[in-house]
Amino acid sequence: MPGKPTRDDKFSFGLWTVGWQARDPFGDATRPPLDAVEAVHKLAELGAYGVTFHDDDLVPFGSSTAEREGRIKRFRAALDATGLVVPMVTTNLFTHPMFKEGAFTSNDRGVRRYALRKVMANLDLAAELGARTYVFWGGREGSETDAAKDVRAALERYREAIDTLAAYVVDRGYQIRFAIEPKPNEPRGDIILPTVGSALAFISSLEHRDMVGVNPEVGHEQMAGMNFVHSISQALWHGKLFHIDLNGQHGAKYDQDLVFGHGDLLSAFFLVDLLENGAPGGGPAYDGPRHFDYKPFRTEDAAGVWESAAANMRTYLILKERAAAFRADPEVQEALRSSQVDELATPTLAAGESYRELLADEGAYERFDVERAATHGYGFARLDQLAVEHVLGAR
Ligand code: GCO
Ligand code: MN
Ligand code: MN
Repeated sequence: MPGKPTRDDKFSFGLWTVGWQARDPFGDATRPPLDAVEAVHKLAELGAYGVTFHDDDLVPFGSSTAEREGRIKRFRAALDATGLVVPMVTTNLFTHPMFKEGAFTSNDRGVRRYALRKVMANLDLAAELGARTYVFWGGREGSETDAAKDVRAALERYREAIDTLAAYVVDRGYQIRFAIEPKPNEPRGDIILPTVGSALAFISSLEHRDMVGVNPEVGHEQMAGMNFVHSISQALWHGKLFHIDLNGQHGAKYDQDLVFGHGDLLSAFFLVDLLENGAPGGGPAYDGPRHFDYKPFRTEDAAGVWESAAANMRTYLILKERAAAFRADPEVQEALRSSQVDELATPTLAAGESYRELLADEGAYERFDVERAATHGYGFARLDQLAVEHVLGAR
């Protein structure tokens, strides 16, 4: 069993996660507000290395300059006292009623201009605090009726917004990269850039595409019925996994934001295996923050909040151990070989071969043993059970 998390595990939490007062569309808050300074101390105590926030989590919307400065000063002092870092910062472009029709893609041009300014103000703070990633989650960028939104124009405005903000970061010399966080719906009926695939395609259209990647969230991709491990694999393949939001979700329903691993546990296992052991030749395929974007159950008091925060990290570390044991198991290694899993890494054409040599190769076609290829089993059933047994601690 794993010990306490350490800074090297790179676990981070949003202020809005442990600080969630559990207000939902049907009920009032069940917990009092959590002071950001207390959150920082508590997270550090539990073994996290980082804390993240939306502008409004740290400084309530509409605060005076003096109040803003005071809050930032207290927060900085807590960071200094604990050694916690701020790896990522983001903007709240969804709570204030002015954003009811979107921010970067609102039909109201004045709102779009305001949104850009709100982000720029917070980018300055992000840079001051040393954040290297800035997340864009466009929860209000979307529609409830197709009559009301010209989606092509919205994408054009989205592109304009991200490129304008990227130019700002470049001109200021900030060491910040952007990460777009997809989500299919909630709070809007349908959100623009609903999945990792849509975000990757959008990024390829940007002028500043090199500094923009994705921040996929487990539950968001699963709400859309997608396989999160596949989505992360593709993001990695494109070199675009800039950040990740870990949590749990039970299939296609409202955004549950459960503790990591407390939804689709097998998928969580294969995700950790990919992140920790998925580099070609082994080792971590991702070295950024392991960021938890979850919500403690509405039923919990403060003790339950910290219990659940610790559970995210502990579950991750247990899965990391399980994945290492899976990889080290000689029977698994043998099963992987007989399932030809490694063979997929071999290029289909030999070195220097082109379609001409392939055409001339009778063994590839005329004399290929079609019957054998059609009838041999791949042994995936055994491999799958071996994985399940490792997850269950039965091996
Ligand atoms: C959600 C989202 C948000 C964003 C966060 C960053 O649960 O719908 O995850 O929590 O990640 O607001 O902007
Ligand atoms: Mn979510
Ligand atoms: Mn998120």
